[in-house]
Amino acid sequence: MQRNEKKPALITGSTSGIGLSIAHTLARHGHPIMLHGLVEQVAGEKLRTEFTEAYGVECGFSSADISTENGCQALVMDTREAVGNPAVLVNNAGIQFTAPSHEFPSDAWQKIITVNLSAAFYLARDLLPHMRAEGWGRVVNISSVHGLVASTEKAAYCAAKHGLIGLTKVMALENADCGVTANAICPGWVETPLIQPQIEAISREECIDLDQARARLLGAKQPMSRATRPEAIGELVVYLCGEFAETITGASLPVDGGWTAQ
Ligand SMILES: NC(=O)c1ccc[n+]([C@@H]2O[C@H](COP(=O)([O-])OP(=O)(O)OC[C@H]3O[C@@H](n4cnc5c(N)ncnc54)[C@H](O)[C@@H]3O)[C@@H](O)[C@H]2O)c1
Repeated sequence: MQRNEKKPALITGSTSGIGLSIAHTLARHGHPIMLHGLVEQVAGEKLRTEFTEAYGVECGFSSADISTENGCQALVMDTREAVGNPAVLVNNAGIQFTAPSHEFPSDAWQKIITVNLSAAFYLARDLLPHMRAEGWGRVVNISSVHGLVASTEKAAYCAAKHGLIGLTKVMALENADCGVTANAICPGWVETPLIQPQIEAISREECIDLDQARARLLGAKQPMSRATRPEAIGELVVYLCGEFAETITGASLPVDGGWTAQ
């Protein structure tokens, strides 16, 4: 039996896309799950029930808005109440906004930095002491290829995702002596609601249909011009939580169809 079996996992932004897939995959492997995301309580409760019935694991839900430090504290409290102290923290919640740097609105900048970067710091700061005391923990930060390389019109997103990789490395070093690892996953395109506005913008600007726009977006930078399945990220998180990953720490792992190999 693995030491981490049945340890609770908090996955931020797990009501949609990549986070939801990560939650399904961890639940299938027996982890109690704390679901989280900006949906109505009733929708969150429905999802929670679905998880409990499908996987037979303990499961909680919180709709805390993590764009503030208080919101992150509320999420920690909700999590402890529902499933206890998580030994797995997946900082996945993220948002996007695109505009040239010289036109980038301050509110969009602030929001992206707090949700995509600061929340990961606040949550890890609160949850690491328990992991350290237990001698086992996993922090997985969902960064992006945009944590490794840049694209135009993504000033805040690139700054936050690069920052998240720096934060990951610091946490890896600080916890190397106590069985706690910290790693970043850096996806290229993944088929989720996050990329829809970008597909729609290309469709509008170039007067092409959505399928053509999707192909244009995916092919522009990614040599394999097809999106990664969200489940693939879930499986990588499970691997990082497994016994063979115990010396993988401080890594930034691209899942990007060759994007950052160029
Ligand atoms: N989809 C991609 O192509 C892609 C590529 C690289 C990295 N990523 C990263 O993967 C992560 C997940 O992205 P996704 O594509 O699944 O997005 P998504 O839009 O499908 O899901 C985002 C989740 O975050 C939650 N969220 C957003 N703002 C929040 C807030 N203020 N408080 C609480 N919850 C909030 C949403 O409710 C939702 O559950 C993000 O960090 C994103 O940057 C995505």
